[in-house]
Amino acid sequence: EINGPLIVVSNRLPFVLQRKSDGTFVRKQSAGGLVTAVAPVVVECKGLWIGWSGTHDLDPETAIPEADPSDNAPTAGLLSKQIIPVHIDRKEFEDYYNGCCNGTIWPLFHSMPDKAVFQAHTWKAYCTVNSKFAESTLNALRSILADLDKNGKTTVTPVVWIHDYQLMVAATHIRHKCDEENLRCRLGFFLHIPFPAWDLIRLFPWDDQILQGMLAFDFVGFHIEDYCLNFIDCCCRRLGCRVDRNSMLVELAGRTIHVKALPIGIPFERFVQLAQTAPEYLKDTEKVKVIIGVDRLDYTKGLVHRIKAFERLLENHPEYLEKVSLLQISVPSRTDVQEYKQLKDEMEQLIGRINGRFSQPNWSPIRYIYGCISQEQLAALYRDAAVALVTPLRDGMNLVAKEYVACQIREPGVLILSPFAGAGGMMHEALLVNPYELDEAAKTIHRALAMPLDERELRMTQLRHREHCLDVNYWMSSCLSAMGALKTEDGDVD
Ligand code: UDP
Ligand code: G6P
Repeated sequence: EINGPLIVVSNRLPFVLQRKSDGTFVRKQSAGGLVTAVAPVVVECKGLWIGWSGTHDLDPETAIPEADPSDNAPTAGLLSKQIIPVHIDRKEFEDYYNGCCNGTIWPLFHSMPDKAVFQAHTWKAYCTVNSKFAESTLNALRSILADLDKNGKTTVTPVVWIHDYQLMVAATHIRHKCDEENLRCRLGFFLHIPFPAWDLIRLFPWDDQILQGMLAFDFVGFHIEDYCLNFIDCCCRRLGCRVDRNSMLVELAGRTIHVKALPIGIPFERFVQLAQTAPEYLKDTEKVKVIIGVDRLDYTKGLVHRIKAFERLLENHPEYLEKVSLLQISVPSRTDVQEYKQLKDEMEQLIGRINGRFSQPNWSPIRYIYGCISQEQLAALYRDAAVALVTPLRDGMNLVAKEYVACQIREPGVLILSPFAGAGGMMHEALLVNPYELDEAAKTIHRALAMPLDERELRMTQLRHREHCLDVNYWMSSCLSAMGALKTEDGDVD
């Protein structure tokens, strides 16, 4: 049980607000790993969620709509009073989100510096918007503390849990105000993307400010140990901090910051349940084995390499023609950023060429969905696909790999995974393949398609067991415990 109220802060609220023709707004679930993982936590803890509503049209006075009664998304349990939208001016948002977050930090932190654009004005917008999020958080915190104090709960400390690369410097402002106004809170941060090595971080002209921002937290969490060690190394080399790599501690200005690897999990049982009840969407094609790919349309996901590896498979193994097809679901993402627009065009051309090359009247090698699908449909597709291709060039963790194994409740399929995803370091029973090596990747798909049932069962049982134990609830309580926010049995905090 959590000791004290929880405030979650992330760039994006767990749903996007869409305006209907009558001018009112409806909720539509946001895509991406952060939301999938954190939403159930906030529902369970009855916490607050501070974030951007996904629209610039929302008037600050307009109330957030409640969930539609038929909505069964994981965010449906969030009441409107739990949501605090942050309003950001359109131009400022463009510089902050399309510019600094997704034009600079995202590619740099995924070790693709050639795609990063460094501009002082977008960094300035990043800092301004981070301060706005900080202000909203402080307002919520002040009001929670006033309530606690009024009720004599003066020893209860609220938890402020900020997420991801969009908000790495928000705590600078929060820490300053908390010290000034004597506000009590535990300040925790979790980075959902990789933290790269010092030679990459140093390319960022304001790297010291990012590191100082992250050190304004009490606790900083990453998916895997490599990211923790990179961060600690950067603090040591750039800021001259005293660090302890064994205990993962960093000291700055008399404060000690705790760093920890906490690999995120999925709501395992929810996916099993969905897989048990969802209808069969691939029924008509039962003679064709389906290989599935599910990703936001993002250049870090290795989609072009994946499609080319599949083409190589068809070239080298014509016996798969009309027997196998690749179902690629690509969720539109960051569509105003140039690199994403280019990727969309490149994918469409590539898939068109390959389908033109191999298609028969009754069969196409690649089925391509550019859009979002429901979790129920996703679970059914995972369940019925013979192979999942999760082959990012770089990925903080990757939840799709975990969701696929959760849904293997019938005859088990095979997971093919890139070692460059955080998940690749833990899901040892998957077939690991370097996505840059097209021939190897094609061979690995062949191996997966030909794998005997007993081997598939053995691998999948172990994969499923691990993901069941290390699910999102486990991750949540590990994070809260690392922030010192969990009640022990005698009622004290950890
Ligand atoms: N997802 C979604 N809608 C879709 C397809 C996928 O919400 O149409 C979800 C998927 O279930 C997964 C998340 O998006 O939970 C993707 O998370 P992942 O960690 O794989 O990648 P990210 O998008 O965070 O980079
Ligand atoms: C990744 C990031 C999240 C982000 C999500 C979707 O999961 O770690 O912070 O919310 O992608 O991206 P978007 O830019 O649409 O929020």
